Amino acid sequence: MRIPTSFLSWSLVSTCLLPVTAANSNQTGGQLLAGAARLDITPEMNPNWLPLNEYELEKLYIRAIVFENNGERGALIGVEIANYEQLVYEHMIGLVAGLLNVSASSVVFTATHTHGAALWGSGLFFTEHNYGSQAVNKYPTLGDAALVAVKEAYGKMVPAQIDHAKGEAYLNVNRDHMNPLTGRWTQFSNFSGPVDREVQVLTFTNLNNTPIAAYTTYPMHPVNSYLAGYCSSDWPDAMSRWIEQSLGGDMVAVYSHSASGDFNPRCRRTGTNNLASICRMPINGLELAQEPIEEAIRDFYVPLVRPDVTYIRQLFSELTVVGIVIGEKVIRLISSTTSWDKNPQIWSKQANVTCSGRARVDDAREGVPGYYTNSTGIDIMTGALGLGDIVLPHVGAEIFTRIGWRIMDESTMNKTMLVTMANGWSESGYIADVESVAQEVFQTLNSLLVPGSCAEDKIVSSLSEYISEYKSTL
Ligand SMILES: *[C@@H]1O[C@H](CO)[C@@H](O)[C@H](O)[C@H]1NC(C)=O
Ligand SMILES: *[C@@H]1O[C@H](CO)[C@@H](O)[C@H](O)[C@H]1NC(C)=O
Ligand SMILES: *[C@@H]1O[C@H](CO)[C@@H](O)[C@H](O)[C@H]1NC(C)=O
Ligand SMILES: *[C@@H]1O[C@H](CO)[C@@H](O)[C@H](O)[C@H]1NC(C)=O
Ligand SMILES: *[C@@H]1O[C@H](CO)[C@@H](O)[C@H](O)[C@H]1NC(C)=O
Ligand SMILES: *[C@@H]1O[C@H](CO)[C@@H](O)[C@H](O)[C@H]1NC(C)=O
Repeated sequence: MRIPTSFLSWSLVSTCLLPVTAANSNQTGGQLLAGAARLDITPEMNPNWLPLNEYELEKLYIRAIVFENNGERGALIGVEIANYEQLVYEHMIGLVAGLLNVSASSVVFTATHTHGAALWGSGLFFTEHNYGSQAVNKYPTLGDAALVAVKEAYGKMVPAQIDHAKGEAYLNVNRDHMNPLTGRWTQFSNFSGPVDREVQVLTFTNLNNTPIAAYTTYPMHPVNSYLAGYCSSDWPDAMSRWIEQSLGGDMVAVYSHSASGDFNPRCRRTGTNNLASICRMPINGLELAQEPIEEAIRDFYVPLVRPDVTYIRQLFSELTVVGIVIGEKVIRLISSTTSWDKNPQIWSKQANVTCSGRARVDDAREGVPGYYTNSTGIDIMTGALGLGDIVLPHVGAEIFTRIGWRIMDESTMNKTMLVTMANGWSESGYIADVESVAQEVFQTLNSLLVPGSCAEDKIVSSLSEYISEYKSTL
């Protein structure tokens, strides 16, 4: 899928956004400062595809957390869109790193990957109104929106402290399934496949223990709004808004993916029924197989029309509940956090790793072999951001869970919080672990990496090196 060109338009930065200079080196130091901001980036709606305006998750936000200590500065930014192209990242980071006067590695930028804010499939995002010459979006580019959010967060910085906690949430499932009837791989819940339930949260509070911001990771694809016919930031936004409204004030809750390349939500009924309603199929309320219904809309076998509002309301209600359940888990973790660090070191490093690439010559979705020719090398961004005894290793791609487990296992720091889809979006497509790579699912077939262990090994070893290097400075 492609981001339309208007997202890439290189507009001039508003002149009110002057570079940060005053606090570049706070001579006092020794005390963390942190601030956070949330900005509504919901695009102007096509008048023929208006929102319900009933659910929090109908809005799209960008959120930023900015922090500084001992003359070092960094930011965590999360945006509620499906994905972003490398060029969009490069444009955004040029503006943000310039504003903060830091290297690109000091900023960890991720998308929530909500499939309800995608350009493909949904009438909402396929219209001239939203990305053609008539586009009327509030921010000309994603970079402009990030810049405004970071500037606001920076301006709100106050003395702060951080800590990290982890727990579990049982809402996801492995999605690579061998259909026993056809003997072919397909996307469907595989309850015996590998799965990771870890929820992690990095919390920033002020010195009165009032939360300023939380940065949460969990591995679960927000796929249920895919092709839904309404703009949706899906369960991640429902989670973020629940935490923000519960903790009150200007508190900001960012969501990022850990290794979720092979995980879907356990429940898909409401999303599938909503798609069946777009296909004008009879719906009896029971669970239906997603793939054939999704395919009809995805591949334009049926006209793009809106679903019956009964089903979009069921979907949005269910996604809201999922967000609340994870949000409650996160609030419990925040509530039980006690070992606060007021003077964390801030450290970062990032670089590309490169593996051999291939080009696809067929276009089958799944369940059959793919055909390829050799191609050029594929870059994958890997990096790490250190914050005291917490480290955030990150990968600019969607990786499978066993790669995530190796990163965690080989990390020498206890508080390791893996972040994916960060600081660039590799052309690789999904990166499957060596054990899963032969499964003929859409993720592996569409991968532009030559099958083998190159990507897995280089991602894991580069991240281990960064973590060891950071640990040696502590
Ligand atoms: C930006 O940071 C560098 C050190 O990394 C410093 O030398 C320079 O003065 C800073 N520029 C501004 C405008 O603060
Ligand atoms: C410098 O740091 C101290 C201690 O955190 C803080 O109180 C003060 O506001 C900071 N000054 C500036 C100019 O940021
Ligand atoms: C589930 O996943 C495992 C591990 O990838 C695989 O061996 C097994 O065949 C899958 N089972 C089903 C029913 O798809
Ligand atoms: C393609 O690359 C593989 C190794 O990656 C090599 O063995 C093979 O000979 C190459 N094929 C062509 C046609 O260049
Ligand atoms: C990483 O690779 C991407 C894709 O090739 C490229 O656009 C980017 O400039 C590279 N970044 C660095 C820091 O090398
Ligand atoms: C890391 O965790 C292990 C096991 O819980 C513990 O024994 C060790 O002391 C911890 N190390 C640090 C540096 O906290």
